[in-house]
Amino acid sequence: MGNGPQVSRRAALGMLAGGVVVGAAGARVGFGASGEGDVGGTQGDLNLTTEEAQAALKTYVPPGKYDPYFIFASGGHSGQMGVIGVPSMRLLKIIPVFSRDSWQGYGFGTDAGNVVLEAGSADDKSDPLYWGDTHHPALSETEGDYDGRWLYINDRANGRIAMIDLRDFKTKQIVDIPNIQTSHGGCFVTPNSEYVHISSMTPSPWTDSGYASLDRYKEDFRGASSWLKIDQQTGHLDMANSFQIELPPYTQDLADAGKLTSFGFGFINSYNTEMATGTAGKADGQTLEAGSVANDFDFLHIIDWQKAEQVVADGKTTVRNGMKVIGLQTAIDEKLLHFAPEPRNPHGIDVNPTGDYLCVSGKLDPHASVYDFTKVKAAIDSEDYQGTDPFGVPILTLESVLEAQVELGQGPLHTQFDDKGYAYTSLFVDTAVAKWALGPKAGHDGADAFTRVETLPVQNNIGHLVTAEGDTVNPNGQWLVALNKWSIDRFPPVGTLHPQNFQLVDLTGSNMKILLDSPIGWGEPHYVQMISADKLTNVMQVYEPGTDPATFATSEFAIEAGEERVERKGKDLHVYMSVLRSHYTPDFIPGKVGDKLHLHLTNVEQTPDATHGFAIPQYNVEASIDPGEVVNIDLDLNRAGSFAMYCSEFCSALHLEMQGWLQVQP
Ligand code: CUA
Repeated sequence: MGNGPQVSRRAALGMLAGGVVVGAAGARVGFGASGEGDVGGTQGDLNLTTEEAQAALKTYVPPGKYDPYFIFASGGHSGQMGVIGVPSMRLLKIIPVFSRDSWQGYGFGTDAGNVVLEAGSADDKSDPLYWGDTHHPALSETEGDYDGRWLYINDRANGRIAMIDLRDFKTKQIVDIPNIQTSHGGCFVTPNSEYVHISSMTPSPWTDSGYASLDRYKEDFRGASSWLKIDQQTGHLDMANSFQIELPPYTQDLADAGKLTSFGFGFINSYNTEMATGTAGKADGQTLEAGSVANDFDFLHIIDWQKAEQVVADGKTTVRNGMKVIGLQTAIDEKLLHFAPEPRNPHGIDVNPTGDYLCVSGKLDPHASVYDFTKVKAAIDSEDYQGTDPFGVPILTLESVLEAQVELGQGPLHTQFDDKGYAYTSLFVDTAVAKWALGPKAGHDGADAFTRVETLPVQNNIGHLVTAEGDTVNPNGQWLVALNKWSIDRFPPVGTLHPQNFQLVDLTGSNMKILLDSPIGWGEPHYVQMISADKLTNVMQVYEPGTDPATFATSEFAIEAGEERVERKGKDLHVYMSVLRSHYTPDFIPGKVGDKLHLHLTNVEQTPDATHGFAIPQYNVEASIDPGEVVNIDLDLNRAGSFAMYCSEFCSALHLEMQGWLQVQP
């Protein structure tokens, strides 16, 4: 590119930034080298409309500049998380969580990945679960705002939860949550990161064997609401100070934390309050699809977690599989669990930024049902019940707690919020985003209160959506991302499995506007959260010398240059190895078949990006050792051979020379 076109392009940028439209609306803007006045380029005629050219400029982040927002995206059944910049939608990183990742040496023989994955496999740690279904990320919060410290994500498939430290963007802990087999959207953090909540999805047998006949679904199966205590120093989950609340065997679904007005409460949707079990192998059995839609109403679960804390402190719990459990009857007696009717088979429950409105969307109901928390609290206090469920849980009188029903369209799922009192709900069936006004407590007391104001078609089949900081008490009204499940013809064909489509939507204008399609070709993101990049203030570029990334403290196995050594104690072969451009010291491991190799690798570099790899052929070992990091590898030397270990990360001009020998004598 020569000087001329650059100058012309800058002039054009200035015009657009100043709000001057280049050419008439709808006119094509030449991208040829046609001179001043055009949004000039050198790549030939891209044939963009003015509107498209403006969209491009709004999402453009020049080389060397950073995006102002980060999305943390679940990766669905890839078991990973993605980090994506907004508005460029550039993929910055994939964080392995429940699945192995060889690039980051996660789960290929190193302590970093293996210890986390094995600890997160409750039943048989020698045969760890090597995948998960990441669903609902939850960023840590202080006073209801994201604080950039920690990130939690649940495993839909196996009822687990993981914690990621946002200092190094690595998974530090996986917990297999007792008494829960699967979890869906029940993952949220309370406003001061007191707890991560996770609820069961499909109920599981609370029997000693873990088995129960489906004929005894009502008697033997149970759900659970889990309140996992966050250690305020490390962000780890402190299971000794965590508790669960036993729930009826309904399918508990999405959940959200109360905030501000509703602080101290948690809310969970449910469906299949019919307790249908599918055909259960019976010829005349009903499918779940048919059996779970009989009731007109399911139950919004309303949990007073501060009251539950007190019940736990008073010792009114039992212990089940190591977890303190508040029994269902205790929860009823102590008045910490109430239900409110919600239209059949709801999906999303989202609390607005002021904490006043609980917005429930029913997959089979075209409305958002809005509950006023002050009315909910009053109904609880006055025992304004319309009845009880089959287990004795009091049901609040619907008319007393429902504030409004807003007609949105077909298949409403999830709701996010902006800074102007508007809500944005995904419509799966209509494949659109509905923008609607909340009520007086969110600043809309005029004629538009509780009405839909706009519908934006998206491509295609939207599941979740996210607004910038949209789960906090201070959302930013700038961006929305639609998480579309199907992309169909939005991208060139890449085979039979299609990418998902994240569509970036501009919320700053008078109408919502799609700016960008972004293919997601590495997983099936379910939900994401969007955080302002300036909140990520603790991100490290290198570790302090000799750091164990599990604790961020100095590793007992750390060495400095000059301290390298090989120590043999019987069959235990300890090798303390330094890693530095472009050699391993020592570069020779004298092993014998039957030895246990304990390899302690210290990257003694402090230069950002000076990561080295460590791969051993045939042994399924692959490590990534970041600057300052200590990685430990325990390996049974069970096959003889001369193995050319090598650096797998292109670190230097002599990267290919960075190798050595693992000798295993027969
Ligand atoms: Cu070290 Cu390549």
